[in-house]
Amino acid sequence: MGEGLVSYGRIENHPILGPLPETRRVCFLFDGRPIEAREGESIAAALLANGIRTLRAHEEQGTPRGIYCNIGHCMECRITIEGVSGFRACLSLASDGLDVCSGIVLPTPFQPAKLREGDAYE
Ligand code: FES
Repeated sequence: MGEGLVSYGRIENHPILGPLPETRRVCFLFDGRPIEAREGESIAAALLANGIRTLRAHEEQGTPRGIYCNIGHCMECRITIEGVSGFRACLSLASDGLDVCSGIVLPTPFQPAKLREGDAYE
């Protein structure tokens, strides 16, 4: 990263959202935990600045997922805001009182059963 993009764990100059202005502090909840952010800062950046890198679990495998592209392309940072899923944390702005949740592992009824050695395909 170039100079000035990140300071003290905070993304100061987002490639899409632009420079982070000096603004008032706001507080939102992430999985019930209060998170301090700067008004106008992305939720992903605020979580990163608070030491939280895992934004959700992979829907099938449950492996942790976090910021990848940070510009809205990869969809790895999907979170739920006020009960609505599918928001990108890297482009969604933090504001006072928001209720934000990480993703959950979903059941996968359409996954084929794993074959063991010696099993035949049907
Ligand atoms: S990190 Fe890629 S879309 Fe948010």
